[in-house]
Amino acid sequence: MLWKEFIQDPGKTGAIAQSSPRLARYIAQQAHLRDKRAVVEFGPGTSVVTREILRHLRPGATFFALETNPRLVDLTRRNCPGATVYRASAEEIGHHLQLHGRDSCDCIISSLPWANFPRGLQDRILEASYQALQPGGLLLSFSYWQGRVLPGGQYFRQRLGHYFNHVERSRTVWRNLPPDFPYQAYKYGPATSPLSPKFASSLKLLICSIKSFVYSLRPLSWA
Ligand SMILES: C[S@@+](CC[C@H](N)C(=O)[O-])C[C@H]1O[C@@H](n2cnc3c(N)ncnc32)[C@H](O)[C@@H]1O
Repeated sequence: MLWKEFIQDPGKTGAIAQSSPRLARYIAQQAHLRDKRAVVEFGPGTSVVTREILRHLRPGATFFALETNPRLVDLTRRNCPGATVYRASAEEIGHHLQLHGRDSCDCIISSLPWANFPRGLQDRILEASYQALQPGGLLLSFSYWQGRVLPGGQYFRQRLGHYFNHVERSRTVWRNLPPDFPYQAYKYGPATSPLSPKFASSLKLLICSIKSFVYSLRPLSWA
């Protein structure tokens, strides 16, 4: 199915074969979906990854997908009746979050063919993703191997680092055509605590202040 779309529009489709089930499982594991309250997928294509997201999503979590190709929108809706799929570009994530009564999400899973996109579109989608993610939120993007050498892929890697201050590259998934390697980009670094990063840093500051206050009393009471 995807190869037919690739022949019609290689730039936007970006792959001749759908993601392998192994890659889809790996993506869902890397995203730690059980901890997420709002998840958005960019470019579900044939819905292999969508199905895996739905399998791992916690009950009651918000989820929707944004896909520009109308045939692939229909296919994903048919394959995953439990998913909300909009025919829209990834740039419009903010507007669609609002339709769900939210102004942010904590995870974006993308299989967009970044390396094929013009620079302006890459920047608009990265900017919209950054704005849409809450602090500690994760953009998990998988890119095909050839994307590393294309100028568009190199530009994407550089811009990812510009927008997100903590970027990790996971191991290559060889059982995919072509082999794939996911990037994990966090807004302000991975969330390590269930507290919001702002609250956690205020708490740390408070504990430090109490410690230094207690320490300053020591010579008086223990002398
Ligand atoms: C590499 S394919 C996805 C493959 C998918 N993981 C699968 O297994 O079928 C990339 C997808 O991104 C979609 N796409 C391209 N530009 C987009 C955009 N600006 N916003 C949302 N989706 C887009 C394409 O139509 C295509 O379905």
